[in-house]
Amino acid sequence: MSQTYHSYWRCPSNIAIVKYWGKKPEQIPMNASLSLTLSQSNTEVRATLSPKSTSESVALSYFFEGNRNELFEAKFSKYLEAHSASFPFLKDFQLEIHSKNSFPHSTGIASSASAFGGLALVLCDLFEQTQGQKISGNWLQTASHFARLGSGSACRSVFPNWAQWGKTDGQPESSDLFALPINKVHTNFMDMRDTILVVDDQPKKVSSTAGHALMNKHPYALSRFQQANSRVDELTHILQSGDLDAFVQLTESEALTLHAMMMTSSDYYLLMRPNTILVIEKIFEFREQSGIPICFTLDAGPNIHLLYPAQYEVGVKKFINEVLSNCAKSIIFDRGGNGPEQIISD
Ligand code: PMV
Repeated sequence: MSQTYHSYWRCPSNIAIVKYWGKKPEQIPMNASLSLTLSQSNTEVRATLSPKSTSESVALSYFFEGNRNELFEAKFSKYLEAHSASFPFLKDFQLEIHSKNSFPHSTGIASSASAFGGLALVLCDLFEQTQGQKISGNWLQTASHFARLGSGSACRSVFPNWAQWGKTDGQPESSDLFALPINKVHTNFMDMRDTILVVDDQPKKVSSTAGHALMNKHPYALSRFQQANSRVDELTHILQSGDLDAFVQLTESEALTLHAMMMTSSDYYLLMRPNTILVIEKIFEFREQSGIPICFTLDAGPNIHLLYPAQYEVGVKKFINEVLSNCAKSIIFDRGGNGPEQIISD
């Protein structure tokens, strides 16, 4: 068994419009979520399998942006150990992974989504190569399932543009175990821009894991979970109908609700910074004056994602340059994208 196998994938990150916040073990979400998969913000994962020379159950060497990274190695080894039964090749082979992000750290772009998305894709690919058989059922759905087991929101990243994760009444095929693509989308929402205004690039003070856990005893948990589930179905209809005003309203309310959950947890905390509020108020003002359907969302951090259809790009860029750029440390221009790509290397 001297053979080596290679797999190389690029997986984008995503930004949730309806937010996943609260979970049960194994990343089973307490509520459904719906997101936009990005284009420019991605992780490349290059994996090589070669015959194992050690007796460890999982032998992983992990290199991030050219350097051995023990923190990532420990995190991904734990994941592989937990799911080794699904990837029998881990018994006989050692795995070397080289990954790199297209975006800087702590910018409000979920690197765990693109990293676990990428890892799941290479694992599914290596499974097929080593077993000499196709994965039964839907390939991307399987990758989404394994991405979820690493980081919940990652399961949405394996699909292009709009994806739903979590069971809702309005979407009979939806599941808590994997995401599914939302394909029926009005032209208004087919070419969305996401411009990320990095107002603070310090690492997060409270991890998402800790934030999710605070929802277990949150006084508003139940009504929040119900609200999010019905908003996912509502957003699916909005995406179909092309109603930009309804999209703006739902998107901003979701962002503020997520942060309201943090502020009203037993161990309350506040992730918005003064410039987050300043930018939000400038967006309200600009929307009112220009009539352009631009809106913001926030991840679990202080940075602003500005969302708008491509046709308004010229006006919005002028607004960013003239009004918002002073409030941001850096600006990343991203957009909805086509999902992961396999990279064929020579
Ligand atoms: O996938 P996690 O555990 O990093 O949680 C993500 C939580 C949010 O980004 C705040 C919302 C979401 O749905 O992506």
